[in-house]
Amino acid sequence: YPLDIHVYDTISSTNTVLKEMAEDGATEGTVLVASEQTLGRGRMGRKFVSPADTGIYFSILLRPDIPASDSLFLTTSAAVAVAKAIEDVSDKKAKIKWVNDVFVDNKKVCGILTEATFNMETGKLNYAIVGIGINVCFPEGGFPEEIDKIATAIFDKESDSINKRSKLLAHVLNYFMDFYNSFESKSYLKEYIDRSILLGKNITVIDKDGNKTAKAISIDDECHLLVRFEDGTEKLLSSGEVSIKLD
Ligand code: BTN
Repeated sequence: YPLDIHVYDTISSTNTVLKEMAEDGATEGTVLVASEQTLGRGRMGRKFVSPADTGIYFSILLRPDIPASDSLFLTTSAAVAVAKAIEDVSDKKAKIKWVNDVFVDNKKVCGILTEATFNMETGKLNYAIVGIGINVCFPEGGFPEEIDKIATAIFDKESDSINKRSKLLAHVLNYFMDFYNSFESKSYLKEYIDRSILLGKNITVIDKDGNKTAKAISIDDECHLLVRFEDGTEKLLSSGEVSIKLD
């Protein structure tokens, strides 16, 4: 169905602005795209560095009739859509780091922040905003120091950035809307698992109680990550407030 795409050079945060539009009744399929964000937001209150003209930062408004707990699959399917799109437009292989980071050359190339509100009585979503930030080309002077070690871009050079970014965006939106239109089938789940960089690896699980060494065992149908700690106990993690570091 039709997308209503609004393009900005600079914006505070496509998620923040789209949230206001959603509260004002914007329809499903409204998309905000920007070349630069001054207040880009990441998960867990972190900022998302969004330098001008080299990345794409966009948010999609959805109003699916699904339980709030299924909103995780919006993120999952978006990660698969981004990975497939990257492989369409470049010769890079794209992997996914649970729960929602897309990796190229063992570094993060894309982050996804899904924000949803739900109806307390029905437990269903009112709306969800899927926000996606992709580093498409390396900025001229490199990334800011604070993310240089962990972040990368799909393309080395800044040349032809606008075409590369437009093409990538089109591919991501196509894949994502295809997945969304057959959301219940969870057709993206197998690809999500196949692309996971964590499975079989030693990791550090970081949550409010601190850091623990573990091994990533599997990802289930609910997109939970099964980990085994050093003492042999296992735990099923859901995305919430956990972050994972590859050892
Ligand atoms: C993360 O890696 O923690 C998630 C990053 C999500 C970034 C995107 S860029 C478009 C949208 N607007 C934001 O402010 N954040 C998301």
